[in-house]
Amino acid sequence: MMTPPRVFVDREEEVRRIINWIRSFPLPQQNIPRTRNILLIIGPKGVGKTTILKRIAYEETIPNTYMVYVEFRGIYSDSYQLFIEMINQIMRELNEIGWRLHGLRDLGFKIVKAFISKYLGREFIEEMSWDIIIDKLRRYNPLTLFMDLIDILCEYSYKENKRLVIIMDEFQVFIETISRKVRRDYFIKSFIQYLSKTQEWGSRTSRGYTIFIISTSDYTYYTNLMDYIVYHIWPLYIEELDEQYACELLIKTLQGHGIWISKEIANEVVREIGGNPSIILQLTQYIIVHDVEEITRDAILGIIHSLIEDLRRKYRSELSNEEKKVLRIACQYLCHQNYIEYSKLIDIISRSIGYSVDKARNIVDELMRKNILYINRAGVRFQNRVVEKALCIHIP
Ligand SMILES: Nc1ncnc2c1ncn2[C@@H]1O[C@H](COP(=O)(O)OP(=O)(O)OP(=O)(O)O)[C@@H](O)[C@H]1O
Ligand SMILES: [Mg+2]
Repeated sequence: MMTPPRVFVDREEEVRRIINWIRSFPLPQQNIPRTRNILLIIGPKGVGKTTILKRIAYEETIPNTYMVYVEFRGIYSDSYQLFIEMINQIMRELNEIGWRLHGLRDLGFKIVKAFISKYLGREFIEEMSWDIIIDKLRRYNPLTLFMDLIDILCEYSYKENKRLVIIMDEFQVFIETISRKVRRDYFIKSFIQYLSKTQEWGSRTSRGYTIFIISTSDYTYYTNLMDYIVYHIWPLYIEELDEQYACELLIKTLQGHGIWISKEIANEVVREIGGNPSIILQLTQYIIVHDVEEITRDAILGIIHSLIEDLRRKYRSELSNEEKKVLRIACQYLCHQNYIEYSKLIDIISRSIGYSVDKARNIVDELMRKNILYINRAGVRFQNRVVEKALCIHIP
């Protein structure tokens, strides 16, 4: 069966802002002061952060700029594995996908070679398989390896007089992994200090520099970062799609599957489920499974209902009693996608259930980790409308 082409809507504004920001940096050989900024992309699960970043990394051509896209997936067993994975991904990106797209495969390969031969000697390059190389690198301090690899990248980008952008997507995974075994502060501190150092002139052995883009669906890490690099960060919030674009995504995706939906009904659907693209796509999957050719109002409301019911069932079995208790209180304040200040929410919960502040905080944090609650500078709210509806049954 043929899969219909992917629909892409909106985000011109975000893409343009990010590209302009990158272009505002001088080339490495230009002796011009530059803004010291790390771009931090923040937005709820599935809102489209990765889509925007991949588009910038792979589909847009920014003159005189190299891009390296790194994505953390799942949770790694320790910080060691995490850094190795990061190095692995950067090298693969240089070697294959990313830089082939930019017509830079040879240069990427050169950098990988320089890095490997520095640690393992030249003979490894021709003979060894990728897995063996990664395995051999395990002897070294992963943070050092990482910094060295970036250094070599900087060196080349300086020689070529090109900007170097490193994108780290799903950054919350990074910090969650680190916090598992090692003392969180130590690792975050050294990595963040490293990040902020890369933002200063003359701090590197090579003269190139890196432009970092970090993306996270968990704002708590933003506040964590803030302590160390507040002056270096430019936060960019990615919000749900506007109603018009959300409708376009719904209509066009369904069209791709030969299903027709009227504009009026699409509008109503979007008002019901919100503008989170991953939720809209999830709904289209439900519609496709239901195997209808034309969508009536009643049919679609029924399908939305079953989507919410499935989620509710999942939460019923997966959430602990304490989490349910906390959510029951939280629902009173968070319905209709309202935000409430984090400390206020904790206070309300601890006072109404009688939990200690620490306990209330732990549970709320866990609900954020489970992608039920979302926090940003405005406060805490539900991740999206569907999650809210699945949990706030008793509220009209
Ligand atoms: N602008 C868009 N147009 C069409 N589809 C989109 C758009 N943005 C996101 N999507 C789709 O929505 C889904 C989620 O997007 P994406 O993975 O980019 O979100 P995310 O913010 O990175 O999520 P997470 O926090 O889970 O990493 C994907 O299937 C993606 O194709
Ligand atoms: Mg993502």
